[in-house]
Amino acid sequence: MNRYLFSCLSVMILLLSACEAGKPALPADYPDQQSQAFQTFARQCSQCHRPPMPTAHTAREWPAVLARMQQHRIQRSLAPVSARDMVVIRDYLIRYAKKDQAS
Ligand code: HEC
Repeated sequence: MNRYLFSCLSVMILLLSACEAGKPALPADYPDQQSQAFQTFARQCSQCHRPPMPTAHTAREWPAVLARMQQHRIQRSLAPVSARDMVVIRDYLIRYAKKDQAS
């Protein structure tokens, strides 16, 4: 490999790892972290802020919060989360949501 290409690659790797290091570390106590649902949630809800704990809202409140987050995406010219992913995220959040006083 020629030297120029090699140093370019090194710089790229450095930049990439710096990027990785800059990501906010997720606290290790989200429920069901091994699941596909958690992965989808973490991917879709970490672009603007750290993904919230499911206990941040009750099951009744989550749908309105998710609808507002879609609006934020649109405002920032990001594609909305697909309906399929939204169902997965909504189910994940609702499953582990804060318990409603009434229920
Ligand atoms: C395009 C950027 C963006 C994305 C992506 C995003 N959010 Fe947000 N989120 C915001 C902004 C801006 C606020 C603060 C204003 C507000 O509360 O609407 C916020 C605030 C919040 C809050 C705190 C306010 C509250 O009502 O408790 C929660 C919880 C939340 N987001 C959940 C989520 C979830 C769940 C996802 C993934 C589906 C998500 N966010 C994805 C932009 C985003």
